[in-house]
Amino acid sequence: MAAGMLMPMVRFAVDPVLQDKGGGDFVPTDKKVDEITTEPTRVDFTFTQKDAWYESEVTNTAWVYKDEKGEIVALSPVCKHLGCTVDWNTDKSNPNHFFCPCHYGLYTKDGTNVPGTPPTAPLDVYEYRVKDGYLQIGKAKPRKGA
Ligand code: FES
Repeated sequence: MAAGMLMPMVRFAVDPVLQDKGGGDFVPTDKKVDEITTEPTRVDFTFTQKDAWYESEVTNTAWVYKDEKGEIVALSPVCKHLGCTVDWNTDKSNPNHFFCPCHYGLYTKDGTNVPGTPPTAPLDVYEYRVKDGYLQIGKAKPRKGA
């Protein structure tokens, strides 16, 4: 009988930890792949995040463009210095760069940190996939070779 009373309490305590997170690691966006150009564009995407028993809607951003080979590039906007948000082409003295206004961090278009500015690593790169002509964003990972 004690076990019958304890099991639901134990299950309640560990359930969120053991739960299969599944459900797809890619988040749909409203960005049509055909509309992606060589100019980095901000793409927002929203997903549900579960922390133990707390569920919340989180909106993230990717900087998305096509490189010279026509491959899609999706960069994290999180500065690798102290985590501020980078913007594209907002520093008039360094056009066509990602710029972090917090401490004047600079990155080239492919996300490479510019030497002599505070960031010490390239911007992370999002995994992505295309579904029904629309871009879906996955996890952000450090750039290969960085
Ligand atoms: S947080 Fe971006 S340069 Fe410091």
